[in-house]
Amino acid sequence: MFLANLPIYKKLTKQRSITFANYLSKLIPANSHVLDFGCGNMFTAMELLKHDPSLHITGLDVIRDQNLTDEILAMKGIEFKIANSKELPFPDDTFDIVIALATMHHTPSPEYYLSELKRVIKPTGAVILVEEMYLNQADRIYISAQDWILNNMKKGVPVPLNFRSHKHYLAEFKKQGLNVVFEGSVRPIPTMMHHYVYKLTK
Ligand SMILES: C[S@@+](CC[C@H](N)C(=O)[O-])C[C@H]1O[C@@H](n2cnc3c(N)ncnc32)[C@H](O)[C@@H]1O
Repeated sequence: MFLANLPIYKKLTKQRSITFANYLSKLIPANSHVLDFGCGNMFTAMELLKHDPSLHITGLDVIRDQNLTDEILAMKGIEFKIANSKELPFPDDTFDIVIALATMHHTPSPEYYLSELKRVIKPTGAVILVEEMYLNQADRIYISAQDWILNNMKKGVPVPLNFRSHKHYLAEFKKQGLNVVFEGSVRPIPTMMHHYVYKLTK
C-alpha cells in the first residue's frame, strides 16, 4: 500500500500542480510543443492545458506514476513516453519549451541532464527549470528529508537525493552557455521549501 493512492495525497498533489501551473503558464508561449521531463502523474501538464489548450505536452519519465491515469493520457494535447536510456529519446532542437519540475535531483546527474535539456530545445526555445536548490547545509538536510519521505510514498520513483546548491546551478548555467531570461521562485504548498524557477535559453 502506497500513500500516493490515498485521496488526501491526490488532493494535495493536485493543489501543488495548480500552484505550479498558475506560476509557469505565463512563461510558456501559445502553441508550444512542451517536453515535461520527469512528468510524474502529469497533474501539472493537465493544469497547464487548462490555462492554454493550444499547448502540446509530451511527458517523459522512467516509470509510469501510479496516479497517471488512462483518462489523463487520453486528453487532447497530452502524450507520454517511458524511457530509461541515458540520452533523451529525442533529436536535437525538438521542443519549444522543456520543463523540469522537481526532477533534476532524481536523476543520476543533474549536470548531464541539463545539457540534454539544452540539446533538445529549438534554437528559439527555452528550458524552464523548477528545482529545490540549497543555500546551506541545513537547507540541504531539510529538502533531502522531505524529498525522501514524499517520494517513498510513491511506487518506483528513484530517490538519489542529488540536490545541488543554488550557487552550483548558477555556475553550471554559465558553464553550459545557458542564458537566464527569467528568475523567480514558488512555494508549491505550505511547509514545502520554495522552488527556484529559471527560464534558460541557448
Ligand atoms: C518528484 S517527481 C516530480 C514529478 C513531476 N514533475 C511533478 O512535479 O509532479 C520526479 C520524477 O522524475 C522522474 N525521473 C527520475 N529520473 C528520470 C530520468 N532520468 N528521466 C526522466 N524522468 C526521470 C521520476 O520517475 C519522477 O516521476
